[in-house]
Amino acid sequence: MQNQQLMTSLSNGVQMPLLGLGVYDMYKQEAEQAVLWALETGYRLIDTASMYRNEAEIGNAVRQSGINRNDLFITTKVNNTDQGYEKTLKAFDVSLQKLNLDYVDLYLVHWPIKFTRKFTWKALERLYHEGRIKAIGVANYLIPFLEELQIEATEIPMVNQVEFSPYLYLEDLLNYCKERKIQLQAYSPLVRGQRMSDPKLLSMAEKYKKTPAQIILRWALQLGVSTIPKSSNLDRLKENFDVFDFEISEQDMAYINSFNENLRIVEDPMELY
Ligand SMILES: NC(=O)c1ccc[n+]([C@@H]2O[C@H](COP(=O)([O-])OP(=O)(O)OC[C@H]3O[C@@H](n4cnc5c(N)ncnc54)[C@H](OP(=O)(O)O)[C@@H]3O)[C@@H](O)[C@H]2O)c1
Repeated sequence: MQNQQLMTSLSNGVQMPLLGLGVYDMYKQEAEQAVLWALETGYRLIDTASMYRNEAEIGNAVRQSGINRNDLFITTKVNNTDQGYEKTLKAFDVSLQKLNLDYVDLYLVHWPIKFTRKFTWKALERLYHEGRIKAIGVANYLIPFLEELQIEATEIPMVNQVEFSPYLYLEDLLNYCKERKIQLQAYSPLVRGQRMSDPKLLSMAEKYKKTPAQIILRWALQLGVSTIPKSSNLDRLKENFDVFDFEISEQDMAYINSFNENLRIVEDPMELY
């Protein structure tokens, strides 16, 4: 795993970097600067959402970077209030306009909203078939939501972005997705900093001469899980990308799996909506 652009092949053949930058909770100028730094550092996947209100700044940074659009992987998501068939089609146009790009690489249903999610998925399928999105997926879809979606879907989601960390190790979901070639992507992978001083994690950091964040990110990559840590700090952006020069042993991977405490930062999708 030496390649700085470790890629995964989605079920439709589209190549996606496994490690990317999340831009939630970054305000306008902060987001633009962070994305510029990230692209200079080597990141090629940027994860935004209509809800984050920074799509325009992400698009600005992409253009300013001068990097070939084909070498970048830009994700955005349909907002909860925009779900439903017609509303999603419109919301996609608005996102694309704000990003000021010709296409997005990955468009996600942000949350499995009860009465509208089925229609939202139909809209994503249409946009995908029209060639306006390279890949489509979902976020916060635990197994029951994926099971329901497959009843009527003509496309199986290529990506499922969920909260996932050593402290929320969703092994059943990971296996379920692997069996169906749905790429799992970890959000809030760093537990928003809340477990950085866990002695178990610190012992791993000391052993591998890496930081706690690097251990967590490397663990996800070795599981084959894409991961999108957020940072708007240049040093931490670099730190989070510097995870390709070491390998966690099988035994230590199992040890890190055992950190699980079902800790959620974001609401449980089974309980909300
Ligand atoms: N689909 C969804 O429903 C959903 C929900 C939540 C998040 N997401 C996506 O996932 C991305 C990441 O999740 P997140 O933003 O919730 O949380 P996160 O990446 O787990 O944590 C971000 C926090 O950790 C800090 N941090 C970053 N690198 C660090 C390091 N090396 N050492 C110590 N602290 C560090 C950041 O501060 P600094 O910025 O100051 O470095 C920030 O406060 C989001 O930005 C978003 O794109 C999606």
